Amino acid sequence: MQTTFQPRIFSGIQPSGGLTLGNYLGALRRFAGFQGSGAETIYCVVDLHAITVWQDPEKLRHNTREVAAAFMAAGVDPAISVLFNQSQVSQHAELAWLFNTVARVGWMYRMTQFKDKAGKNSENSSLGLLAYPSLMAADILAYHATAVPVGDDQKQHLELTRDIAAKFNHDYGQEFFPITEPLIEGSATRVMSLRDGSKKMSKSDPSDASRINLTDDADTIAQKIRKARTDADPLPGTFDGLADRPEARNLVNIYAALSGETPDQILPRFEGQGFGAFKPALAELAVSVLAPITTRMSDFMGDPAEIDRILGKGADRATEIAQPIVEKTKEIMGMIRSR
Ligand code: TYM
Repeated sequence: MQTTFQPRIFSGIQPSGGLTLGNYLGALRRFAGFQGSGAETIYCVVDLHAITVWQDPEKLRHNTREVAAAFMAAGVDPAISVLFNQSQVSQHAELAWLFNTVARVGWMYRMTQFKDKAGKNSENSSLGLLAYPSLMAADILAYHATAVPVGDDQKQHLELTRDIAAKFNHDYGQEFFPITEPLIEGSATRVMSLRDGSKKMSKSDPSDASRINLTDDADTIAQKIRKARTDADPLPGTFDGLADRPEARNLVNIYAALSGETPDQILPRFEGQGFGAFKPALAELAVSVLAPITTRMSDFMGDPAEIDRILGKGADRATEIAQPIVEKTKEIMGMIRSR
């Protein structure tokens, strides 16, 4: 018999530095919309993931609050959604250990994020960086989450989460974990660097000009868009005409995501014009969308004690859901539960 799971959305963001327009368009701005959709919504600042590469403790605390502020600035309401930081709910680390015995080492070595982050000297990367996807599966499956909204770069990790759930269910002969659906949607599932259309926009890129940070002011945003790498050709009337122009495609996708239109709705307005016309329009749009969010973020950051209180309350609610699921997992695996 097929087990049915109640609809539950889970997503997480690492507090490993400033948030980018990529984080916002690919993930953050979609989160509030799931509230009131009939699904329970659980959003997490994943500090245990961030420490897989060294973090300055004081900065980690600051960044954790900043990501929490960004969730709320983007409309996540802690009275509706469960909002917390990962390390306050010990079930994440516990279930990750159990999954370390289910997942195979080869699965971890195949992850492109591990290869990218570990670089040439992978023997010297932390063991946590290699095991990272097992913790991510635990984040999701500790809540029996049925769907996970993320950007395209997390697709491989979500496939691995499904593999872990399926292998556990098979090994222990019951449909205990759901096979979670990735929700990777819209025109901004992969926002690219402003300096190189073949690279993802990322907080870890050494060039600050490659990204728009959620904390950038209006002038900085406008300047970065003005300097974004493009080509000399005029814009075509349809998106198909941008097939071989990755930088141009990226800017049009960003425009579409910000304005809530499709690229094919936007392009006829700019057909035959160059980037001299398109970039100022994009800059104005980006500032008008991001400025209110930046302002709300800094308002929340004005009261760090309140953020900590919200995260603590969220962690209590998260524990209520995760604890029985992780307890049951241990029982299924044959561990004595006698207290
Ligand atoms: P992280 O912190 O790198 O990014 C947070 C979210 O932002 C999305 N994203 C992007 N989307 C489009 N274009 C981009 N350039 C771009 N850059 C980032 C990411 O896809 C992500 O949705 N492993 C995760 C965090 C995590 C998680 C989880 C997510 C841990 N446990 C459980 C979902 C469920 C990560 O490093 O995201």
